[in-house]
Amino acid sequence: MISYRGVGVAFALSGLAGLGLAVVYILGGQPQWEGALLMVALGGIGVGLIGWAKQLYGDSEETDQRPVLPSAVEPRVAFATSLERSEEFSRRRGLTGLLAFAAGSLAVAALFPLRSLGPTPGGTLRRTSWRRGSRLVTEGGGEPLRPDSLGRGGIVTVFPEGVEADEDAATVVINVDPAQLGEGTNAEWVIDGNIAYSKICTHVGCPVGLYREPEHSLLCPCHQSTFDVLDGARVVFGPAPRPLPQLPLGVDDEGFLIALGDYPQPVGPSFWNRGR
Ligand code: FES
Repeated sequence: MISYRGVGVAFALSGLAGLGLAVVYILGGQPQWEGALLMVALGGIGVGLIGWAKQLYGDSEETDQRPVLPSAVEPRVAFATSLERSEEFSRRRGLTGLLAFAAGSLAVAALFPLRSLGPTPGGTLRRTSWRRGSRLVTEGGGEPLRPDSLGRGGIVTVFPEGVEADEDAATVVINVDPAQLGEGTNAEWVIDGNIAYSKICTHVGCPVGLYREPEHSLLCPCHQSTFDVLDGARVVFGPAPRPLPQLPLGVDDEGFLIALGDYPQPVGPSFWNRGR
């Protein structure tokens, strides 16, 4: 049977583990440590409560067959007074305090995961950094693109000038023969064969960067969704539910390729269809 000292140790360990859990979470989290500390925090409370109950009620079951024999008032008052002063009572207070410490620290640790819910995304999932007049600049180098920068069959990844870190704005520009464009493509947004699509797969968001020129298809390496570049990035194979959005292209006064606005549809996975 666990002694009272053991019960106190179990509650104290549980409390410390709960505080440790909160600290680990604040420092960025570490799944193995979080799991171990949660186990100690919950296990400590469980072991402590079982030990305490056994101390109070003992291990054996006993049945008293006697009728109820109420005590007189004076003896009951005297008993209550002696209980107040007894060691048992002060021990109970101490253990109750430790139990409250263990449960309280666990409750504090449990509050931190609420932070993971984060702020609401608002409209950010529907927009990218592309604006009317944004120049198309290459990844890394930041070189602005001209209509003749790519040879026929060429492909390059671009971002809006000045916000090259916006991954949602990642775009592939491919140079195709304009005479081969299908009905799914908005030909007014194609400049000298340069056509631009979002690089984010509409399945679960992998970068779509593998271009097979003989079939004019863009391939997503994650689950092999394949998009027809000549026909508005229509899905011809794989689990992607919709085409890659096409970026409206134009040319500015200095002859550089620019966007005429943001994508007409949200890029990436079709989150707004969830739950329908
Ligand atoms: S993320 Fe592209 S096919 Fe799954």
